[in-house]
Amino acid sequence: MNVIIVGAQWGDEGKGKVVDLYSAKAEYIVRYQGGNNAGHTLVVNGRKTVLHLIPSGILHPGKICLIGNGVVFDPNVFFEEIEALQTSKALADTAHESVRVSERAHVILPYHRLLDRLREEHAAGGKIGTTVRGIGPAYEDKIARRGIQVVDLLHPELLRSKLEKAIEEKNVLLKHHFGAPAIELAPLYDECLQLGERLRPFVADVRSLLVNALRQDRPVLFEGAQGTLLDVDHGTYPYVTSSSTVAGGAFTGTGLGPNFPAKVIGIAKAYTTRVGTGPFPTEIERTEPETAERIRKVGAEFGATTGRPRRTGWLDLVALKYAVEVNGMTGLALMKIDILDDFDFLKVCTAYRLGGNTLYDLPSCIEDLERVEPAYEVLPGWPKYDRTQIRGRGDLPPELQSYLNFIEAFLGIPIVLMSTGPGREETWELSDPFAKI
Ligand code: GDP
Ligand code: IMO
Ligand code: MG
Repeated sequence: MNVIIVGAQWGDEGKGKVVDLYSAKAEYIVRYQGGNNAGHTLVVNGRKTVLHLIPSGILHPGKICLIGNGVVFDPNVFFEEIEALQTSKALADTAHESVRVSERAHVILPYHRLLDRLREEHAAGGKIGTTVRGIGPAYEDKIARRGIQVVDLLHPELLRSKLEKAIEEKNVLLKHHFGAPAIELAPLYDECLQLGERLRPFVADVRSLLVNALRQDRPVLFEGAQGTLLDVDHGTYPYVTSSSTVAGGAFTGTGLGPNFPAKVIGIAKAYTTRVGTGPFPTEIERTEPETAERIRKVGAEFGATTGRPRRTGWLDLVALKYAVEVNGMTGLALMKIDILDDFDFLKVCTAYRLGGNTLYDLPSCIEDLERVEPAYEVLPGWPKYDRTQIRGRGDLPPELQSYLNFIEAFLGIPIVLMSTGPGREETWELSDPFAKI
């Protein structure tokens, strides 16, 4: 069996932890979209590693970690991450044997980062609150058919004219719209050539590696980044990232068809957070500031990429049910349950109210989503409990069991994993998605 991991909320749900854990059972781990806007945190033997680009299977020796065509790839960040992993001895000097990058992935270049920053600075009202890593501008170029792919960096004779084409319009924009200096071709070309040479041993036909792996029944783990509600088609547009964060992205982002056996596991926190701007119906920053602060403090809710405080709120089951549907989710991993220990009561949103109507689905109109009022079910909280005494779900405090049962009944899918701490060991696996049926 193969497993597709997707973020079920607005990102930062704990995907990195689950991917690290599940990597023990996979042979190939592949990132299929996004770029280094991701910040995936792994805590192994008390030691924290934050990965932005390299798949979260890297701490398991002997696994093949792949970066698929759907990713926007910043070579400098890639090499920084490789070097940091080598310094900490997590990765051998022969890194290219275990880490491969698709020839077709699009490259993030300095002008993408520059444009991302300038756009955010010049956006009067509607700032997205991006990670300023150049993600949006790099995907724009891909769709506009003027992007630079990894394979282009390996062909000096073709690269110059492609770069020329890529910067032509940008220089007009930079000069006349943003009042910024133009991009010079020569130093950019030289930088790209150097990066290409360094990258050469890592470049591969990732699609064909994966096709062979699947033919030989080797388990593949697909690592999503961001979350369903940040998806460019299905998220809270325009306050989204620029890629397909949903399970469908695992196919387009690797070059595989949907005809291999796979489970889709959504990762969700027991509550909700969001970084950046955009609607967030169950947000409690204004309505219940003390609870928001408590969750942020106890849950260490600060961005793993930008360090920004995350906005916090109650669990939104309307949005989560939507995520179950758009991803074809087969199971849920519920994370950070420990952060909700010792609350008198917990709220879960089961519907939205809008102008006298009750909605059971996410409205497509963003202005409507901004205006909805959450309708809550109030559930009893559970006291702190001794986790060393828990052997199975039945040993958990009854209020916590009710919370889990409520979520499962509402969503119609099982909770396959429960997480009560950042460490690998602070996890209960209730069923194994890799198991052959
Ligand atoms: P990702 O982007 O989905 O991989 O998530 P992040 O790494 O950005 O954020 C999740 C944060 O929660 C990280 O700091 C994790 O170490 C931490 N974390 C994950 N699961 C748990 C959990 O069950 N309990 C606690 N307390 N922390 C967790
Ligand atoms: P992981 O993989 C949370 C958000 C940004 C911003 C919007 C667009 O760690 O869950 P972008 O830089 O992608 O153009 O920003 O998306 N965002 C994330 N929020 N977790 C992430 O990744 C995110 N990646 C992007 O805050 O609102
Ligand atoms: Mg993150």
